[in-house]
Amino acid sequence: MFENLSQQPPDGLLALIKLFRDDPRETKLDLGVGVYKDEHGNTPILRAIKAAEEILLREQKTKSYLGPEGDLRFVELVREIVFGETDVTGRVCGIQTPGGTGALRAAADLARRANPAARFWVSAPTWPNHRPIFVAAGAEVMEYPYFDIASQTLLFDRMLAALAGAARGDVIVLHGSCHNPTGANLSRTEWDAVISLCAERGLLPLFDLAYQGLGDGLDEDAYAVRKAAGVLGEMMVAQSCDKNFALYRERTGSLFVLGEKPDVIASNLALCARTTWSMPPDHGAVAVRLILESAELRKLWTDELNEMRERINAVRRRIAETEPALAFIGQQRGLFSNLALSPEMVLRLRTDHGVYMAKSGRINLAGLRVGSVGQFVDALRTAGCLKELA
Ligand code: LMR
Repeated sequence: MFENLSQQPPDGLLALIKLFRDDPRETKLDLGVGVYKDEHGNTPILRAIKAAEEILLREQKTKSYLGPEGDLRFVELVREIVFGETDVTGRVCGIQTPGGTGALRAAADLARRANPAARFWVSAPTWPNHRPIFVAAGAEVMEYPYFDIASQTLLFDRMLAALAGAARGDVIVLHGSCHNPTGANLSRTEWDAVISLCAERGLLPLFDLAYQGLGDGLDEDAYAVRKAAGVLGEMMVAQSCDKNFALYRERTGSLFVLGEKPDVIASNLALCARTTWSMPPDHGAVAVRLILESAELRKLWTDELNEMRERINAVRRRIAETEPALAFIGQQRGLFSNLALSPEMVLRLRTDHGVYMAKSGRINLAGLRVGSVGQFVDALRTAGCLKELA
């Protein structure tokens, strides 16, 4: 039977991790997969996480099952970070998920249980894993125009026009902040218009909030989610702690759903979880819970998060100051920007200059140091890429 299977290409982004590791050049630059790196090129475990892990090691008595919803105290504490002052009491439910990807999959399964005809609208371009996740859940995926990479401009009017063609009950996937791959985010006025459109036309937003705190700040990056939660009766938020707590492989996230009958929704979420991963991995969530329960560790974490964000934004500023053709990078936020480079250019940068980036031309700014910006810009210049970008 397995002879019926055809070979699948490896995930392009994840393949880069290995290619980079195997490259012996000391000057190589890793701008590939979306992982934060410090000024020394390391992806450290946060001090707050280390401190929480010490407590965990000392105090954890059992690893017995918790249930498909995971650690509900973790979920409650993360809920406050996501929704802030916006009151969602009595109309929200949430579960812990294996990272943001698990949250997106559970969101897709839930939406399809409620409305099998729901189509999923993703931005063009979007994170390459969005479409496969929704397709794997059996959904039809549509695209709305979002950003023109060649001119580095948002296509807001075209986005609204496309979404006006979505059917009632369709799911609109929105990057809450730090758009992946472009780093180009809607203004508050534009967010308000998208949220009004969802309200008017009965569209269901699914916010992908994978980088909260790494753009402009924890509260600033939650503007759209909080505004939508104040206006709409129904919405979903797929949240991730993998980046803002640097937990990556621990796969720590949550899914929040707003609706009239949160208990009924929660029971369906539990079923979605039970039939996919049964129960989420515990370790990262307990560490996050311990941090958020302690004023001292919470302060340590927010300081570390601020440091990560400020470092990324300092790299962005330095690139913009160094090379006028790349000035747009200074205006964008989050880990990524998407350069208008052909796959051939991307390959040339990798082979001739040891600069690793996604085939699409997406770069992870957190892979650079302020001190390596010059090297990066020189590589782009020598490879003849700057002419393309100007
Ligand atoms: C990325 O876009 O690089 C990250 O979200 C990592 C991933 O899982 O693709």
